Amino acid sequence: MRSRRFTLFSVLLISTISLLQGHASADLNIRSSSSPFSIALETLQKQLGYTFKSIALLRRAMTHASFSEENSRALSILGANVIDAAVSFQSLAKDIDISSKDLNRRISEISAVESSCTVDGLRLGLQKVVRVSPKTNSSAPAVVCGAFRAIFGAIAVDTADCDAAGDIFWAIHGAKVGAALPL
Ligand SMILES: *[C@@H]1O[C@H](CO)[C@@H](O)[C@H](O)[C@H]1NC(C)=O
Repeated sequence: MRSRRFTLFSVLLISTISLLQGHASADLNIRSSSSPFSIALETLQKQLGYTFKSIALLRRAMTHASFSEENSRALSILGANVIDAAVSFQSLAKDIDISSKDLNRRISEISAVESSCTVDGLRLGLQKVVRVSPKTNSSAPAVVCGAFRAIFGAIAVDTADCDAAGDIFWAIHGAKVGAALPL
């Protein structure tokens, strides 16, 4: 009798322990967040040479409007302004007499969709990272360039510093262009 009661107790105890362990490992899985998307974000941060304080910002930057209401659209606008300001500043620092026509041409060479914006984004492999709806082509220039811009919007918000985001833009865009900085 006593031994049967003991057995029942043991079975209950063991079931409870394994249930708790199940919970614990489920929690761990959530925390380690090893989804392909999370892994891609980790790799992207290494490529950028920048680690986000809030990874949610990079996650949002890598989410196209076709995929979610919580998307990169507004970050993309800030990012485009970060890039335009970085290019304008560099151009004027180099030549204060630059014409508005030349400055606009230089800005569009670097930040327009059909320009190095898409090339830079493809080089980072953003077409393989950005989340889009099944009907959306993630390699389309507008998608790649939008995601590329959104990265710098996300960095500007994460650092609360547009200049810091501009510096990372130059580092990504190419040492060749960055080296032209007279500073
Ligand atoms: C997606 O877009 C890229 C770049 O414009 C193009 O080369 C490719 O053919 C497109 N893929 C599909 C499936 O439409």
